[in-house]
Amino acid sequence: MTPVKNNLLLRALRNETTSRTPVWMMRQAGRTDPMYRELRQRVDLPLEAMFRDSDISVEASLLPKRIGVDGIIIFQDILTPLTPIGADFLFRPGPQLKTPIRCETDIEKLRPIDPADDLAHVGRTIRGVRAALDGDLPVIGFAGAPLTLAMFLIEGKSPGRNPERVFSMMRDKPASMHKLLSKLADMTVAYLRYQIEEGVQTVQLFESMADIITTEQYATFAHRYHERIFAALSNDVPKILFAKERSEMNLLASSGADVISIGNCVDLRECRATLGDRVAIQGNVDNQIVATGSTDDVRRAVRECIDAGGSTGHVLNLSHGLLQNTPFENVQAFVDEAHRYSAAQTESAPERSATT
Ligand code: CP3
Repeated sequence: MTPVKNNLLLRALRNETTSRTPVWMMRQAGRTDPMYRELRQRVDLPLEAMFRDSDISVEASLLPKRIGVDGIIIFQDILTPLTPIGADFLFRPGPQLKTPIRCETDIEKLRPIDPADDLAHVGRTIRGVRAALDGDLPVIGFAGAPLTLAMFLIEGKSPGRNPERVFSMMRDKPASMHKLLSKLADMTVAYLRYQIEEGVQTVQLFESMADIITTEQYATFAHRYHERIFAALSNDVPKILFAKERSEMNLLASSGADVISIGNCVDLRECRATLGDRVAIQGNVDNQIVATGSTDDVRRAVRECIDAGGSTGHVLNLSHGLLQNTPFENVQAFVDEAHRYSAAQTESAPERSATT
């Protein structure tokens, strides 16, 4: 396969020193980009149909390239693999499961997946993105982590901050919960292995509902499955864990992830001090600043984050995904400042470039 021309992201994810801090944003493909909105209008399809069409998914995945990001995330949703396990959904406008999972029998009915067959459109999208990039940038694959997917399955929609049914299953039927999580973990391993075979160069596991549970629940119902998934994947691609707004750095680092994506609840410098050089770090500019601040606020936040992260094993990203109402000029300022400031830092400290 073509070697990657811009390998800053892959180097930082492998905890190496880089001549400039690489940058990408969670949820960069869509939502805030006027060209994405144009694409949606032009194709005039429901979101689930856009995800199934690999030509459209390739086009949407590539849109952020022009902003100057150092990696391209595949345009799909974390819910994509739920359809072949037997839990189909629509976006109206948020995800709506056709039949939520409520009892042991529903869990038993969930099928194992054969991604090459069931999710061939994802493989086509990955190959299409790799071909179009021709090695310019690395491609990021991803999956939803089991507990986050389970919450969507059980609630039948976005779980919100107080998913009663999820909490009562954890409390009253932990064995059923583990059965469901186990099936989802097997599915996720198959899905991520497939993405790697098709050419993604790094993978991120999204535990996007991690911020609404206790440490105990996180350890029992989330962390265990992260360990299982990461252990089953090849060491050839860096593995990123995004556990929304969790602060238990040692626990996260023991999941087997090579990179921990951090939110607003931890200080990047403290996080470095705790973790040493065990893992690389991704994050953590406050996505609210990018959504509501001025371009100067965004630029300042980027500079502070680059200073805190240092030049080894740091990927500049947000605390969480881009928020829906984020002005596109702030998105561009985020990336521009990452380039400008990182380059200026390297010039003023030429000895660092000797190590790259
Ligand atoms: O840039 C990217 O990150 C592209 C791929 C991507 C999408 N969804 C496309 C999408 C990724 C990585 C996701 C992950 C995802 N999807 C998560 C975890 C990530 C996170 O932010 O923590 C979650 C929880 C979902 C579930 C989901 N998808 C919801 C609740 C919604 C509706 C509301 C919304 O906009 O978030 C979606 C829709 C969705 N998935 C959009 C995109 C670009 C919105 C697109 C549109 O409205 O046109």
